[in-house]
Amino acid sequence: MEVVISSSAEQVDRLAADIVEHVVQSGPAVLGLATGSSPVGTYRELSRRHRENGLSFAQCRAFLLDEYIGVPRAAEQSYFAFIRDNFVDHVDLDGAAVYSPDGEADDIAREAQRYDAAIAEAGGADVQILGIGTDGHIGFNEPGSSLRSRTRVKTLTEQTRADNARFFDSPDEVPHHVLTQGLGTIGEARHLVLIATGESKADAVAAAVEGPLSAFCPASVIQWHPHVSVLLDDAAASAL
Ligand code: GLP
Repeated sequence: MEVVISSSAEQVDRLAADIVEHVVQSGPAVLGLATGSSPVGTYRELSRRHRENGLSFAQCRAFLLDEYIGVPRAAEQSYFAFIRDNFVDHVDLDGAAVYSPDGEADDIAREAQRYDAAIAEAGGADVQILGIGTDGHIGFNEPGSSLRSRTRVKTLTEQTRADNARFFDSPDEVPHHVLTQGLGTIGEARHLVLIATGESKADAVAAAVEGPLSAFCPASVIQWHPHVSVLLDDAAASAL
């Protein structure tokens, strides 16, 4: 695992964008995309490189980590809309080649299996962008998640619902249930890039990077992976 500590969040964004750019320029790539605030600067930097340097995503496919159950794709709070608004609409990635779990499927369990299989059929992600929750979750794998789990339904902790309430009109509107790639699914990506900035992530980052490999901190599963880049600013690295 490489841990790179930068003096600014902008530098973190550039380093993450460098990794994605390298993968994209190596041939048709499968990108694993995360939502949440952490990767937004990276998506902005990649969009800039597309606009100014002609970096093309036309040959890429992309898979999202997770989705809220019961939030329509058209709603701005859906992760489907989030990735469209923050990345896909700003580059030449074909919207039809961007996949996410369907949180409105009639048979959610079956949808989870279908999505997991679709990632495998695409050959797995060449690079997987990850944020980290303050409780150490990646995707929406909350503490207690099996380290080998597959895509499935999870119940959010109150801490995560409170953390994500800023994206909703009121805290009560944050869904309780989500579909998320499992820790085993995420671990099949060939390169994991975990991005964290700000002091609120410091304890979770320390547990993930230096703590025991444990379901109590789902992000610690990255310690198992042969190719991981953890990109931090000084504040997120402050408990290491
Ligand atoms: C959500 C997402 C995660 C993300 C986490 C952290 O729970 N499901 O993929 O990493 O939030 O979000 P943020 O980057 O906004 O702090």
